Amino acid sequence: MANPSYHEPIDKLSETTQDLHRALRSLMEELEAIDWYQQRVDATSDAALRRILAHNRDEEIEHAAMTLEWIRRHHPAFDAALRTYLFTEGDVTALEERASGATAGAPPTLHPSPLTTIGSLRQRS
Ligand SMILES: [Fe+2]
Repeated sequence: MANPSYHEPIDKLSETTQDLHRALRSLMEELEAIDWYQQRVDATSDAALRRILAHNRDEEIEHAAMTLEWIRRHHPAFDAALRTYLFTEGDVTALEERASGATAGAPPTLHPSPLTTIGSLRQRS
């Protein structure tokens, strides 16, 4: 079955790219569901329904986190960026400055290491 969400002919896409596409689309769907549930939590005047909708929203957050973790494990640039920005404190933009500022004479920290390039991932599939 054709997938209309592809922007390039499927026969030009590696298995790695197709799996990444599946994960990214799933993450987008989970995030959209979180947004919709959150709005419904605000809008309903029924307390029992509000609790159910909040529970469902939180389930979608778990799904999004699991999918994001799969993406991190399979995409070196996501891994590098999430390691730079997640679970930090303070000004997020300062983290970028620190990461890129530390590159004077050193490899950029937001780029995958030579051992984990997209090309090396393609060789796994
Ligand atoms: Fe979900």
